[in-house]
Amino acid sequence: MKCLILVSAIFVLIFARSVPTFPSPTIDVLIGPNCHMCEVILNNVRYEYHNNFTGVTPDQLRKSLYVQCDLNLNGFTDEECHRIADNDSADILQQLQAGTSSYRICQRDLLC
Ligand SMILES: *[C@@H]1O[C@H](CO)[C@@H](O)[C@H](O)[C@H]1NC(C)=O
Ligand SMILES: *[C@@H]1O[C@H](CO)[C@@H](O)[C@H](O)[C@H]1NC(C)=O
Repeated sequence: MKCLILVSAIFVLIFARSVPTFPSPTIDVLIGPNCHMCEVILNNVRYEYHNNFTGVTPDQLRKSLYVQCDLNLNGFTDEECHRIADNDSADILQQLQAGTSSYRICQRDLLC
């Protein structure tokens, strides 16, 4: 009986040690799911403006991006999203006005 307990204890120990540890997805914010989220966010913004960015100001776009960041992301990734909106709203606006695809815009912001 004692032996059985010992064997199961060893088994549990070995099993616990072999469980792989996954890196936190927030560590590398520039790859992976953020590409898709970036496209979702831009497509929602397009929808909001009916894909017509004539007369839209960078500040308006920044606020729309903020709303979409908060709806789709949280924590560190949300903060990063706000930072991108702060830094790049004028640039993103120009690209939206020029009809650049969401994927390409996300590529330029190094998210895809
Ligand atoms: C786009 O928006 C502007 C300003 O609101 C408007 O004058 C123009 O007619 C719109 N263009 C289209 C294609 O809907
Ligand atoms: C925003 O701009 C600041 C200052 O230029 C820079 O330090 C920061 O890395 C930029 N952030 C993003 C997300 O581009």
